[in-house]
Order: sequence, then C-alpha cells, then structure tokens
Amino acid sequence: NAARPAPSRGLPFTAIKPVPDTTDDLVVPEGYQWFPIIRWGDPLFHTSPPFDPSVPDAEAQEEQFGYNNDYLDILVTDRRGRHALLCCNHEFVNRSIMFPPRAAGAAELELLRALMAAVGFSVVELERSGRRRPWRYVRGARLNRRITATTPFRLTGAAAGNPLLQTAADPTGTRVLGTFNNCSGGTTPWGTILSGEENFHNYFQSNFPAGTPPTTPLYVQRRRYGFNLTRAGSSYLWERVDPRFNATNASYVNEPNRFGYIIEIDPHDPTSTPRKHTALGRFKHEGANVRVDADGRVAAYMGDDERFEYLYKFVSSRRFRPGGSRSARANNLELLTEGDLYVARFSGEDRADNANLGVGTWIPLVANGASVVPGMSVAEVLVFTRLAADTVQATRMDRPEDVQPHPRTGKVYVACTNNTQRGTAAGMPGADAANPRPDLDAAGVPLPGGNKHGHVIEITEDDDRVDATTFSWNLLLVCGPPGEVGNYFAGYEGPVSPISCPDNLAFDSEGNLWISTDGMQGIAYCDALFKVPLVGEDRGRVQQFLATPINSETTGPVIHDRDGSVFVAVQHPGDGGSWVAQQSFFPDYLDEREARPGDWRGPRPSVVQVIRQGPS
Ligand code: FEO
Ligand code: CA
Ligand code: CA
Ligand code: CA
Repeated sequence: NAARPAPSRGLPFTAIKPVPDTTDDLVVPEGYQWFPIIRWGDPLFHTSPPFDPSVPDAEAQEEQFGYNNDYLDILVTDRRGRHALLCCNHEFVNRSIMFPPRAAGAAELELLRALMAAVGFSVVELERSGRRRPWRYVRGARLNRRITATTPFRLTGAAAGNPLLQTAADPTGTRVLGTFNNCSGGTTPWGTILSGEENFHNYFQSNFPAGTPPTTPLYVQRRRYGFNLTRAGSSYLWERVDPRFNATNASYVNEPNRFGYIIEIDPHDPTSTPRKHTALGRFKHEGANVRVDADGRVAAYMGDDERFEYLYKFVSSRRFRPGGSRSARANNLELLTEGDLYVARFSGEDRADNANLGVGTWIPLVANGASVVPGMSVAEVLVFTRLAADTVQATRMDRPEDVQPHPRTGKVYVACTNNTQRGTAAGMPGADAANPRPDLDAAGVPLPGGNKHGHVIEITEDDDRVDATTFSWNLLLVCGPPGEVGNYFAGYEGPVSPISCPDNLAFDSEGNLWISTDGMQGIAYCDALFKVPLVGEDRGRVQQFLATPINSETTGPVIHDRDGSVFVAVQHPGDGGSWVAQQSFFPDYLDEREARPGDWRGPRPSVVQVIRQGPS
C-alpha cells in the first residue's frame, strides 16, 4: 500500500505481544537487544564503596546510583556522539525488598538514612565507542553527581522567603534540604532538567489532636494535599532521624510547604545549587515540559497527578534567548522564576464513539505579579495552589501525568492515567467531555470502575502561541484492552496493542508519540512502551515496543530513533516481593558473569538501553 507512511527509518519493529504480568523479563522486539547502563547501587565516584544491600550504609548510598529511577534523559554532548549525560530522578524507596528486615536501634536509624540517600536525582557521564554501540557509564567522571533528601536547594519566585516557607532551621525561607518523590520531569531548551516533586505528603507526620475544628486553616491545607491527619508517624518514618519530617513540631510546621515544587537542575555544572521554583505552583507535580514559541515566549505545562486534580500552565515573564553566550544563559536560567500561572477549564462535546472535542480556557491564578484569586495573596496561591484552583472552577481531571508539547507541531499531549472514582464515588464528578469515562450501559447506567484505563488529550493553543488563554482540544486515545466499551484510537480502525494507564510521553525524530504505562497489571499484562503515529493513515495505531518485568513500571522513555536506540528506566521491579522472597532478579539474570556481592539476588531498578541489531 504505497499510500501508507514509510516505516520508521531508525526503529522499524513488529509490535510484540503483550506480556503476562507474572513474567520476570524485559521483552523487546525481534532484531533488538537490551543492556542495563546503570543499576541501583552502582558506584558513581572513585571513592564509592561497592554495592552491598545486606548492610544499609547512608554514606555508601550517597555515592551510588539511587533507587526507582523514573524521569530520564540522555543528552549527547559531543558531535561524534561518543559522550553523553544520563540525567535521572529517583522517586521513592521500598525498604522491604532493598534491605534486610531490621529491629529498632542504631541499625534501623542507619537504614532510614540510607533510604534518604537513595532518593533524589543522579547525573552520570556516559561514553561509547561509536554509534549503535552500547553506552557505558563512567565511574568517577567530572559531572557525576548525586542529589538526595539532604542536598541544599534554593527556593525562587514570589513565595521564596515568605513566612509560609520559614522554619526554625531556615528562618530565611529560601534554603531547603533535599528533594524526594520526584516522578517525571522535562529537559529544557536551555539544557537544564526539571523534575516534579509528587507525593511529598507521605514523608511527613501530620496528625492533629482529636477535636481539631475542620475549618482550622492548617487542617484545611493539609487535608487538601492528602496528608494523613490521624496517624502518629509518616509512611517513611524519616522523622526518626530528622525532626523536620515531624510537621506537628512547631519548629517545622512549614516544612511540608517546602516540597511539592518543580525543581531545576543544571547537569552541566556539578557545583550549581539546584532550585525549587515557587512560581510554578505547589501540588503533586508529575513533571513539567517547556515549549518556546516562534516569538521566544516560554510556557511550562504541568499535571497534578491525583484523582480529580488539575492541568496547569506557567508562562514566563521573560523571553528565551538562544545561543550559548553568558548573558543568554543567565537570562534563561531565570525563565522559571517569574511569570503567570494558569489552570485549565475544558468544555466540549461528548460523542458516542468518544471522539470528543471542544475548546478550553487557561484561567489565570497569578497574572503580572498579582494574585487573581479573591482572598489569597500571591504567596498563598503559589504554596496552596490546589485551593486557589478550586475557587476558579477549573476542570477536575483524571490524574494528569506527563503533559508534553510536541517538538514540531506545538500541540500539547496530556496523559490522564486513570481515575477509578470518576462517576462512581459519592459526591465526585461524573464523566465530562475531556474525561469521558465511565461510559454508560444500554440502560444509561455508568459502567463500574470509573476510568480504569486512562486517556490521552491533544490540545492546540489558539494562534499557536504558548501564552494563549484559549485552546481547542480533542481526545487522541481512550485506552483499554480490545473490546472495552468506549475505546477510541483517534479513529484508527485496525488492530492495536492493548494499552492501559498511560503515564510518560516522549517523541521520536519523525514526530511519533511514545507512551509508557503505569498499571497494565489491571489487564494482567506487564507495563510497556508503545509507539503511536500522530499523522497519516496510521494515526492512533498503538504498537507495543517492549515490556518491563513483573510489577515494574516502564518510565522515562527516551527515543533516539536515528541512533537505533530506545532507553527506559525500569522502576520498582518486583515490588510485590520481600527480602527473603524476591519476585524479580532484574536485570542481572541476563549476565551471569557479573560478580555479585554475597548471594543477594533481588531486583535492581535500572536504566536500560535497547539497541537495534544488524546493518545500519
Ligand atoms: Fe509518580 Fe504520577 O506517577
Ligand atoms: Ca513513577
Ligand atoms: Ca509517573
Ligand atoms: Ca503513575
């Protein structure tokens, strides 16, 4: 069929079959091979001790690759393509499979400190002998860096220094220690990495005395962000080694206000202080992706990943300056410190086949340095952004994860991963055009399960300007296994791979969308990576490229199709196991030559390169 678009030049593949969710393997298409580039615990510095999880050691972990890699980019740094920077965040920890069970006491405290050192971010130099060759990481390279739960950060933006951000340890309200639960992110056109502080509420003890009036402002704020208001302890128990994680302590009542931001890291400068940008608001940030339009205007698109939360956009006051001059660089590093913050409201038409479409408005929360929200100051809007967005009647979405502008067309893609309470929980919203499930049965009754499989929205900014305040939109995909009521694949009628719970998005050089999932287990398959053409006859044709091992999530896809390579961060493999009954032995089972400390054989979250074999 000559009219069909040419297959990918760099990454031709035949879709793999979905892989049953009990499988402990990484499955790639025929003609491809995979290699781990770096694993949890691999030494980054010459001084790093060897990996030995049988003895948790915070100092060792500070100098090793962290746990549960999620956002990933591979920045090639030379013309010959032989050097690169691997930039990767480490979302969370699972002590029950990482380390042996411990009694209380000093060993327990060291274990907690090791966990604090296992989250955050890594920058690692890579090298290879030529194109189409595997990358390897360079131990002791100049730019290698670990950022953890104790690394100093600087707060920027209008809320920096505000009393809401001051603590006993930091009366300036500008200097925070650490980042954690960093989920997805984005790489900026000026060469820095953004990362979203997502489920930060789990890290703080935040119980209130019985009888606290529910209208108490602090109670309202904490409840809106999902803190546990009754339990005398946090999920991770870090308050046992660092009192700032006990937010019931008057000295640290504002410590939780210092998390939930977009952070920016300059991977090219290992001495730079990473920053948290209050101008982009505080919520359970999945990530942020920047677009610069033809006039140099800059926007960052962001999702708040919780059921019924919102989609946001930040528009910088400054304009992007191209080029590598010192002044351009200084300008660009300030782009995310000052600007307008918007939240999205959708309206539209609900069609029987879920080919829904409509228009939308970006509603300002902060504009020209002033709050647009009645009764809230700028600092309050930036610190309690969810409360601000509630007041302007933004659209409550189905867990917006990655929100990513297309590098060529500027259309913005929003992965709404799922929302099992849509239309099912008492008092919660039912389906709307932009959040189309649950569909109705023949009697007009909502089908159970809400939006179990998620969907992807395609947004077009009016006049193609990133600072537009209105847009049009349509559904691109309504996901689900074959035959699920309401599935929609941009009108594509042929066979597609089963897909559920879209999370991370990426694009290849030909403009195709790639989607990785977090929740295919709901349809009894391992999480996976898919390619979806956006134009031509194959628009909407979902094709599965790979699957990752049992109970892992496929994150951070990076598509270097011209180089015949795909990279994924395999996150939380085997996380349903225990220290003595591990579920997964990823990734070392494919390399029995690798020396292992002792006889430990648990899973190691790893960054993997998948390379096309054969002639170029
Ligand atoms: Fe950490 Fe929104 O997934
Ligand atoms: Ca994740
Ligand atoms: Ca995610
Ligand atoms: Ca997710």
